[in-house]
Amino acid sequence: MNLNDMDMNFESLRNLMISDRTVRRFREDREVAEETLLRLVELTRYCPSGRNAQPLCYLPVTSDEEKGKVFPLLKWAGYFQDWDGPEKGERPSAYLIQCLDTKYGKDCLCDDGLQLEAITLGMRTLGLGGCIIKAFNAPKLAEELGIDERYTPRYVLAIGYPAEEVRIEDMPDDDDADFKYYRTADGVHHVPKRPLAQLIINTSNPESK
Ligand SMILES: Cc1cc2nc3c(=O)[nH]c(=O)nc-3n(C[C@H](O)[C@H](O)[C@H](O)COP(=O)(O)O)c2cc1C
Repeated sequence: MNLNDMDMNFESLRNLMISDRTVRRFREDREVAEETLLRLVELTRYCPSGRNAQPLCYLPVTSDEEKGKVFPLLKWAGYFQDWDGPEKGERPSAYLIQCLDTKYGKDCLCDDGLQLEAITLGMRTLGLGGCIIKAFNAPKLAEELGIDERYTPRYVLAIGYPAEEVRIEDMPDDDDADFKYYRTADGVHHVPKRPLAQLIINTSNPESK
């Protein structure tokens, strides 16, 4: 592979990551098959894992009955005080419930985030979008879905075909710039991202970062 090909690979990855935005409104009329969820979970086999313990596993949720149990336990978009989450018709077509299998450990270090990123990138390549959700009632979810106590739910990943546009906004190079996402009157969701300069620590002048 020559340098040009490597650059193209890097740009492809970068573009995939740019397009992999959180989506909270979906085309609920479009199904996501359980087989698709299994393909996505299969990607997690190739993720790094602390101690290589691989303690995470997933419960796929696709039936209307189970989706109806999951949805009320989720908190959507904490910054949107007057929005209770997607309306009927715009709700997720499926969920993956990421669980810690306590047989393999009490902690998963950062395996959870690495795997969620692998899955959401995979979703993007299939035209899917989603939302990683930490704000949910985990004990109630386990009870409602009959999850054995061996498994501790850690995250809910809401999945579907996007019904909203999400745009990255470049944040100014300013420590006090607002990082809250927002929605404009045209329904577009905007997500501010810090500039590269703010991500690099400048040891010769810590103040300027
Ligand atoms: C660890 C983690 C927890 C999150 N929990 C929630 C949540 O409970 N509810 C929600 O609506 N979004 C949640 N999100 C989505 C974030 O709000 C979203 O990633 C952030 O606004 C940046 O948008 P982006 O993913 O498009 O870059 C979570 C994301 C992460 C990484």
